[in-house]
Amino acid sequence: MFLIFGNPVSHSKSPLMHNYFFKKSNIKECYGRYKLENGEEIIDKFKELKIKGANVTVPHKEHAFKLADEVRGIAKEIGAVNTLVEENGKVIGYNTDAPGFLEAVKEFEYESVLIIGAGGTAKALSLVFPNAHILNRSEGRLQYFRNKGLKSFTWDEFKTNSYDLIINTTSAGLSDDNYPAPQNILKELFSKAKYAVDVIYGKETPFLKLAKQYNLKTKTGLDMLVYQGVLAMELFLGKELDKKKTAEIYFEILR
Ligand SMILES: NC(=O)c1ccc[n+]([C@@H]2O[C@H](COP(=O)([O-])OP(=O)(O)OC[C@H]3O[C@@H](n4cnc5c(N)ncnc54)[C@H](OP(=O)(O)O)[C@@H]3O)[C@@H](O)[C@H]2O)c1
Repeated sequence: MFLIFGNPVSHSKSPLMHNYFFKKSNIKECYGRYKLENGEEIIDKFKELKIKGANVTVPHKEHAFKLADEVRGIAKEIGAVNTLVEENGKVIGYNTDAPGFLEAVKEFEYESVLIIGAGGTAKALSLVFPNAHILNRSEGRLQYFRNKGLKSFTWDEFKTNSYDLIINTTSAGLSDDNYPAPQNILKELFSKAKYAVDVIYGKETPFLKLAKQYNLKTKTGLDMLVYQGVLAMELFLGKELDKKKTAEIYFEILR
């Protein structure tokens, strides 16, 4: 038995995609959801429910990081855990969000990367794109990146450079028609870029619509969602999967 912890958790696509994968792969397992009010209880609850693995979503990723018996891989640097796996009675924490994004853009050929936004997702992605530049609406959240030596700009300071891959990690466009940066900046960026990727899924954002007008190759956040799921499934099953084939199964049920 596997499940996802979150609050709220009813919107999560994880049960749909992982149950479909189990069915298609003839694996006799099931995946549920658990609305967890108090994040401090996450590991006790995991053990009490005697589950083999779990995903963790907002707002419990930091709790899972803090409380897991052991944290492995990039989760240690990110400070957030989205996947928990039982191993010899211990609960091990991992993060497949940022590695999932990297896997989703594997076929792209890029050198320079611009991350728009400076929140939790941008922090995680900056660990898998250590040479990326950061562009954010306001100053406050940029300090984290500057401390790590990443070139970071507010809209006002930004002198448009040329980047191959532009990533929107802001929530602009999620439930409105906003762009994550002023249109004149985006237009100049897109005129020189090759790829634009959004982390928002379920819709084509104004950011991606504009990128398409400049003939960029684009991806929505669905690819990131799918590949974080594929990497989590590898951890759940304790074996490597054909990532592309597994992703196709997830896309089949999510598209
Ligand atoms: N596809 C996936 O699997 C996946 C995984 C994780 C997250 N996500 C998505 O990622 C998005 C961001 O999540 P998060 O947790 O990183 O958010 P967050 O920590 O709240 O950060 C939000 C960032 O967006 C900026 N921002 C918000 N509204 C903006 C606007 N209208 N114009 C310009 N900038 C704006 C903020 O700028 P300021 O600093 O100026 O406030 C901040 O840098 C959400 O839409 C979430 O659904 C997707």
